[in-house]
Amino acid sequence: MSRLEEKIFREYMTFFEKAERERRWNVFQDIPWERVNREASEELALCAETFCSVEMYLPDYVSNGINLVRSYFGQAWFQANWAYEESKHSLTLMQYLLRSGKRTEEQLTDLQNQIFAKQWNLPFHTPRQMTFYGCVQEMATFVIYVKHRERAGTENDECLRTIYDYIARDEIAHCRFYQSVIKVLLEEDRPGTLADMAHVFANFEMPGVGIVPDYDSRILKMREAGVDRNVFIQKVYMPILKYLGVSRHEMLAAQRTAIDLRRGGERRRDTSIEGLAPNLDSVAPQALSA
Ligand SMILES: [Fe+2]
Ligand SMILES: [Fe+2]
Repeated sequence: MSRLEEKIFREYMTFFEKAERERRWNVFQDIPWERVNREASEELALCAETFCSVEMYLPDYVSNGINLVRSYFGQAWFQANWAYEESKHSLTLMQYLLRSGKRTEEQLTDLQNQIFAKQWNLPFHTPRQMTFYGCVQEMATFVIYVKHRERAGTENDECLRTIYDYIARDEIAHCRFYQSVIKVLLEEDRPGTLADMAHVFANFEMPGVGIVPDYDSRILKMREAGVDRNVFIQKVYMPILKYLGVSRHEMLAAQRTAIDLRRGGERRRDTSIEGLAPNLDSVAPQALSA
């Protein structure tokens, strides 16, 4: 095991020890299923269904993700544990939709068939870029679930509020692991890691885009459900940079280089605000998993 791999393995052990000690939750025992509010709005159910849909691409996230890092012990084992935790997210949301009476078994089977007819592919192709993608995606997902935890509370659905609470805790823990790995990678190769971070920010898209059934109409109906550009910058972009000890100035310089590279041949999308996360207005609900 190289020095770098050893450091990453230590980060995984810290993550795993904490997960085992503080964060395990049980779908059957810890959710107050009896406190579901069957009178809650359809919009609340639609949001839960959309989050559930994004979480359901789990087989693609797991297979693509673990194959990319299979020779890195710490990261490969993280993927295995991550898969277990994420598997509970879609499962629990599906149970919510059924037990709340908002969806029937048939409706969910139909949705599953539509979901599995499409496939999620890796948005980036190196372990380092995918690690940073995971970091950004988990943080954005966390922000969205926190928002919906409050919303479920407002609609007196203690069951869904609790579900979002457990899921949000998982998502931020995933983000923290990725952040700890990126910190190690910055120590090893700061310019290279910054370049990858800039590249990922410039091309970032949430995992459900283009594959979740009726995605566009869901976004329209979900109104304030998502993360707009402003929220992304304040609650995802800036906190990640702060945690990693990367100044905005340093990141902008790396982003400028990434934009120049992109203009020089890669697919071009959006160069506004230094190329930060294009399509942010539509990032909204796909926010999950990975
Ligand atoms: Fe996650
Ligand atoms: Fe998740």
